[in-house]
Amino acid sequence: MLDYYNKRLEEYEAIYAKPERQTDLQKLLARLQADIKNCTVLELACGTGWWTEKLASHASSWTATDADSAALEIVKQKTIQGLSTAQLLNAFQPQVNELVDCVFAAHWYSHLKLNEQQAFFEAVHTCLKPGGCLIMLDNKYVSGSSTSISRTDTIGNTYQRRPLKDGSTYDVLKNFPTQEQLHQSGTAFAFAVQADTDLKLELHHYWYAVMRTSSPPPPLVVLNDTV
Ligand SMILES: C[S@@+](CC[C@H](N)C(=O)[O-])C[C@H]1O[C@@H](n2cnc3c(N)ncnc32)[C@H](O)[C@@H]1O
Repeated sequence: MLDYYNKRLEEYEAIYAKPERQTDLQKLLARLQADIKNCTVLELACGTGWWTEKLASHASSWTATDADSAALEIVKQKTIQGLSTAQLLNAFQPQVNELVDCVFAAHWYSHLKLNEQQAFFEAVHTCLKPGGCLIMLDNKYVSGSSTSISRTDTIGNTYQRRPLKDGSTYDVLKNFPTQEQLHQSGTAFAFAVQADTDLKLELHHYWYAVMRTSSPPPPLVVLNDTV
């Protein structure tokens, strides 16, 4: 997937120009600007920084990260107001100097294999303050707007055949979780989940989820207590 998105960098933001998605995008931006207001934010898999550019100035600090240095170069060239830093980071092994209020990931969860979700949620926990939240948004499958699903593997991951302008075609993992699956996977990994129906956003093309860690944190179990 890293290779595919690297090859797609020049044409990536065309998805944000689709006319039928504009109403949803405006609703998402308004909601996000409120949800991240005055938060310290770590953005994972930021890509070309489409969301970064529209949100960073609303946060108290914003770190944009991606595993592709070419994507980060595009982000840096945008000179985004409010962006504290843009840095190379593997979303499965994030490292932060200080815990953050919010981890944000757009169009990322759909590219996780079902058996990678646990590792991702665990990684996010290591970055968040108690009571902090993971905010994610991603595509719903909409017939006529989404690329059709070309195959499903043995554990239920779905894939699309995606052409690029250079004539190449990629087999890209793209999962479309239901509301129930989002609730189940988030709660299984110690998050309280508010997904888009609870948030009353009434989105057609996207889902939006706020997953909050418990606050205060669970009591520590003291092992080897010799006192
Ligand atoms: C679908 S794009 C999303 C870009 C952006 N968040 C957006 O919504 O416009 C997925 C991004 O994930 C990045 N990526 C792939 N594997 C990654 C990894 N292990 N850690 C961090 N980023 C990764 C790719 O480089 C690409 O920029």
